[in-house]
Amino acid sequence: MEDKLHIAVIGAGLMGHGIAQVFAAAGHTVAVFDRSYEALTSLRQRIAQNLSDLGQDADAANRVFPFEDLGECLAGTDVVIEAGPEDLAFKQKLFLQLELLAPSTALLASNTSVIPISKIVEGMRTPARAMGTHWWNPPYLVPLVEVIKTPWTDAAAAQRMFDLLTAAGKTPAMVEKDVAGFIGNRLQHALWREAVALVEAGICSPETVDTVVKASFGRRLAVLGPLENADMVGTDLTLAIHRTVLPEIDSRPGPSPYLEDLVRGGWLGMKSGEGFRKWSVRDEEALRKRVREHLVAMNQADEQAKATAKTT
Ligand SMILES: NC(=O)c1ccc[n+]([C@@H]2O[C@H](COP(=O)([O-])OP(=O)(O)OC[C@H]3O[C@@H](n4cnc5c(N)ncnc54)[C@H](O)[C@@H]3O)[C@@H](O)[C@H]2O)c1
Repeated sequence: MEDKLHIAVIGAGLMGHGIAQVFAAAGHTVAVFDRSYEALTSLRQRIAQNLSDLGQDADAANRVFPFEDLGECLAGTDVVIEAGPEDLAFKQKLFLQLELLAPSTALLASNTSVIPISKIVEGMRTPARAMGTHWWNPPYLVPLVEVIKTPWTDAAAAQRMFDLLTAAGKTPAMVEKDVAGFIGNRLQHALWREAVALVEAGICSPETVDTVVKASFGRRLAVLGPLENADMVGTDLTLAIHRTVLPEIDSRPGPSPYLEDLVRGGWLGMKSGEGFRKWSVRDEEALRKRVREHLVAMNQADEQAKATAKTT
């Protein structure tokens, strides 16, 4: 692939504008389609604001071009990332349009959170160039992008996407099989299932679950993955722990009745003022700010670690 590409992003929402920002900051030209006029007109301003908040060059926003017409947005594009609504019928129909309107050489990717990519692309005539790219929010602060292959995805096409993401400063991970939740959300929700089960069983409060995670292994997770950790303590100790603990932890195949009751009762979390925990607008804003500052600090720590590694 040449250095500077034409990227198209479908959807200018929370994820779409952040994905466009990443590619524009890496020097690519980015065309963005959305059916909402407001999303398109605010697009450059939102990106410029994010960049200046991060102390980066806001001029990159000028490489992002909003389009009201899908065909015009896709003209001459090398790569398309779909970040529209999480709706299978919408995504299936869109991928058939992408196949017709984008150049035949363009890579086509969906940013779906959980819909199997195979279901989205099964009606295409050229599924070899289609795949998943699962970004994390906010896309310009969280490094990971999972690149998901379907049974039809051409390995070289997935590798081209992987290389493009690496060059744009992301940390891609290849997902060889199209399984629900890919890798990140499977791991994350295995933890959330047990978190809910501990509260449901009266073992501790929701506040305590969060404190235990944040004040213990959560501190290490960003620099010590679970399998690195298993090797550090020894696979023999890991086996012994699993023999004792695994039969005890929640393995029900569906969502917890405790969670279903919360939703049925209207305790929807921050948006309703209470979920597992109570939330004032102030608490919510403070937590969002803390997460953002933490992500920025983590990225700075990564940069520093890379610089130190170069000089030693
Ligand atoms: N929010 C997250 O944390 C997150 C993380 C990873 C993946 N995702 C996935 O990314 C996708 C986008 O999520 P989001 O959070 O950015 O949603 P969002 O609602 O913020 O943005 C979706 C955008 O799609 C536009 N849209 C609606 N119908 C359209 C149409 N017919 N054609 C073109 N555009 C249309 C909307 O106007 C909106 O701007 C979803 O599939 C979501 O599941 C979200």
